[in-house]
Amino acid sequence: MAAPALPRGLAAVVTGGGGGLGRELALELARRGARVVVSDIDGDAAAETAAMLQRTGAEAHSFQCDVSDHVAVQQLREQAEAVVGPVDLVCNNAGVAVGGKFEEIGIDDWRWCVDVNLWGVVHGCHVFAPGMKARGRGYILNVASAAGLLSAPLMSPYNVTKAGVVALSETLHAEMAKSGVRVTALCPTFFKTNILESGHGLSAKTRAVLTKRMQSSALQAPDVARVALDGLAAGELYVVPMRDGRAMWRLKRLAPGFYGSRFADVMELVGKRLGFGK
Ligand SMILES: NC(=O)c1ccc[n+]([C@@H]2O[C@H](COP(=O)([O-])OP(=O)(O)OC[C@H]3O[C@@H](n4cnc5c(N)ncnc54)[C@H](O)[C@@H]3O)[C@@H](O)[C@H]2O)c1
Repeated sequence: MAAPALPRGLAAVVTGGGGGLGRELALELARRGARVVVSDIDGDAAAETAAMLQRTGAEAHSFQCDVSDHVAVQQLREQAEAVVGPVDLVCNNAGVAVGGKFEEIGIDDWRWCVDVNLWGVVHGCHVFAPGMKARGRGYILNVASAAGLLSAPLMSPYNVTKAGVVALSETLHAEMAKSGVRVTALCPTFFKTNILESGHGLSAKTRAVLTKRMQSSALQAPDVARVALDGLAAGELYVVPMRDGRAMWRLKRLAPGFYGSRFADVMELVGKRLGFGK
C-alpha cells in the first residue's frame, strides 16, 4: 500500500532553512507541491534556499528569524500568512550543537543551546499550533535527534534540549490526536551538515571523529528530509531514520541499566554490527 502523501498546495514554514537539513526539508516540501516560507537567523542563507526553490518553479519566500526570540517567531507567522496564507505545516528545524564534559561546559553555552533548540521549538509550536487546531488540519515536524532518545556522553546540553523536544512532541501528539494536527519528532543519528562548524565546545579530535561519522552515514540530509516528511504525512510520532539509532533506542528500553553503564561498549557493538548511520 502506498504511504499517505502530504496534500499538495500546503503553506509551509521551515526554520533554520538556510542550510543543512532545513534546506533539504524546504526542497523536499517544494517537490511535494508546498508553498514554502524559508526562515533562518541568517537571512541571506534563507534567501539563497528560497532562490533554489524558485529555480525549480516552486513558490518560495524567505524571512530572517531567530527562533529563540518569541516575538520574532510571532512576526514570522504574520509575514508568512501575508504571503502564503494560514500556515498548514511547520518544520521546527533550527538547531545548534554544544559538546564537551558536563563540568567544562559554560552556562552561556547551555543557555544558547536551550534557547535555540528547545525554546525555538516551543515558540514554533506555540505560535503555529493554535491556528492549525482551529482549522482542523496541520502538520508539525519537530526536529529532535537520536540524542534526545539515547543521551550519549559528552553532549549534555544537546541531549537535554532534544529530549525536551521529544517530550513536547509526545505531549502535543496526544493532545492533538483528535484535532487533525499531526505531530512528529524526528530523531536521526549523524549526517553531514554545517552543525559542527557553528558548534561550541567541540575539540578538534571530537570534530574529526564526528565529521568522519557524518560523512560515512548511509543516509544524508536529502534522505532524512524524505523519510521525515513521509513519517509526518503518515502521522508517525517518532521518525528514527537510521538503523543504528533504532537499535540503540531498542536496547536502552530493553536493558536500561546495562545501556547506561556500558554506553561505549553498546555503541561499538552496534557500530560493528550495523555500521553507523545506516
Ligand atoms: N547533522 C546531524 O547529524 C543532525 C543529527 C540529528 C539532528 N540534527 C538536527 O537537525 C537540525 C538542523 O541542523 P543541521 O544539522 O542541518 O545543522 P546546520 O548548522 O547545517 O543548519 C542549522 C541551521 O539553523 C540556523 N540557525 C541556528 N541558530 C538559529 C536561530 N537561533 N534561529 C534560526 N535559525 C538558526 C543556522 O543558521 C543553520 O542554517 C538541528 O535541529 C539539529 O540538531 C542534526
